[in-house]
Amino acid sequence: MAKEIVVSGIRPTGFLHLGNYFGAMRNYVRMQEEYDCYFFVANWHALTTHPDTSELKKSVYRVIAENVACGLDPEKVALYVQSDIPEIAELYLYLNTMAYKGELEKTTTFKDKVRQQPDNVNAGLLTYPVLMASDILIHRAVKVPVGKDQEQHLEMARNFAERFNHRYGDVLVPPQAFNYGSELVKILSLDGNGKMSKSENQMATIYLADDDDAVRKKIMKAKTDSGPTEPNAQKPDYIQNLFTLMSIVSDASVIEKFNADFNNCVIRYGDMKKQLAEDMASFLKPIREKAADIQNNAALLNKIITQGRDKARASASATMDEIRKAMRMNY
Ligand code: TRP
Repeated sequence: MAKEIVVSGIRPTGFLHLGNYFGAMRNYVRMQEEYDCYFFVANWHALTTHPDTSELKKSVYRVIAENVACGLDPEKVALYVQSDIPEIAELYLYLNTMAYKGELEKTTTFKDKVRQQPDNVNAGLLTYPVLMASDILIHRAVKVPVGKDQEQHLEMARNFAERFNHRYGDVLVPPQAFNYGSELVKILSLDGNGKMSKSENQMATIYLADDDDAVRKKIMKAKTDSGPTEPNAQKPDYIQNLFTLMSIVSDASVIEKFNADFNNCVIRYGDMKKQLAEDMASFLKPIREKAADIQNNAALLNKIITQGRDKARASASATMDEIRKAMRMNY
């Protein structure tokens, strides 16, 4: 039986961090066994907010290397660079004629970006959801693993697919957001201010590329307080976050100990952070070293990217043939 098709894109606009790892990459790694997966680096999307391309190539290579280091197998999935697939740009052109200015202007992420970069409200920013729809529809994906902030884009992709099918015939597949349900682990920033994120407070974000010392320093600076004053208290967000991180990288016996200490009001957060820092550093070290090895190996990087491009183009050109036929654009 043919496996269901999954597509997801990663913007190369910053260093990948623990939030990316536990919120997305670890799930990609699980999905590669069960689904026909297309994962790509969204370098065209990056241009809508980051027009300076002097560091872009390096970032693209880093994202590829880090994903492989985390366990994505380029033999099992198609791991590719968006700009290597010209069919995506062609579909984007066609879908742009089916996307209305009004609905694009209403998109939440567009309105956010207009506020963030008022001097660069470019057409690419406005049509970002159309490009994202093209990424997905080009492979006729049924499932798209994305966070909550991307659900509106996915709904737009469904609308564009349905409009296309209505106008030109049944070619495209309306995709669904992929829900990990209870498996989704949300990692908060170490300063207790919201989600761990690429761009905000770097001292409160642990990057996959951080060395042991940086990991230790950041965890030792994580927000705590003077401890619970009554037994079995509810844990504040920032304390729960340390326990969540521990549950991922530490032994069960260690977590039980600190949990019991918390419940008995004798917890020493300094000791807990020291333990967490060591366990986190040991967890990240092999990933960081593997990613560095891949980044330093131009031949291997090139092989991975070429392999991904070939798989992605085979799928994309098959869909594009049908699209052109349906639209009578096949001369
Ligand atoms: N918009 C997504 C983000 O900012 C990245 C993305 C681009 C994407 N194209 C996609 C995600 C296609 C899933 C499918 O995170």
